[in-house]
Amino acid sequence: MENTKFDDLIKAAMSARENAFAPYSQFKVGAALRTADGEMITGCNVESAVYGATACAERIAIWKAVSEGKLKFSAIAVVADTQDLTPPCGICRQVIWELCGDIPVVFANLDGKSEILQMKDLLPRAFDSSFLS
Ligand code: THU
Repeated sequence: MENTKFDDLIKAAMSARENAFAPYSQFKVGAALRTADGEMITGCNVESAVYGATACAERIAIWKAVSEGKLKFSAIAVVADTQDLTPPCGICRQVIWELCGDIPVVFANLDGKSEILQMKDLLPRAFDSSFLS
């Protein structure tokens, strides 16, 4: 099986998903980020009654990592309970690109289905800090 390299990351995202706070959408998402030194940092979506204050699982994992001083990443996995595998939203693609660069993004569901795409293919012609200099 081609994707076994990310099995531990998918499993970590799957268990983080169980902590999702999604009383409004009921749509639970888990994410797991692998740091360059092999550590895994997880996140889940946390919703707010002020819907715009909701944070996605991917961004929470990244914010947790950055807040712990980790700034080098090698992969991220995203898990949701959908047959058509759930990809990161547009805002998360921007944040993953800026903080993690061109890493593999693993989409997976609870049935063991998974797919891997590179960040550069998920956000072509990205706007980033290179335009600000
Ligand atoms: N959500 C994520 O956490 N990650 C995604 O990749 C897609 C969407 C969350 C945000 C919100 O809590 C719920 O899913 C429905 O949009």
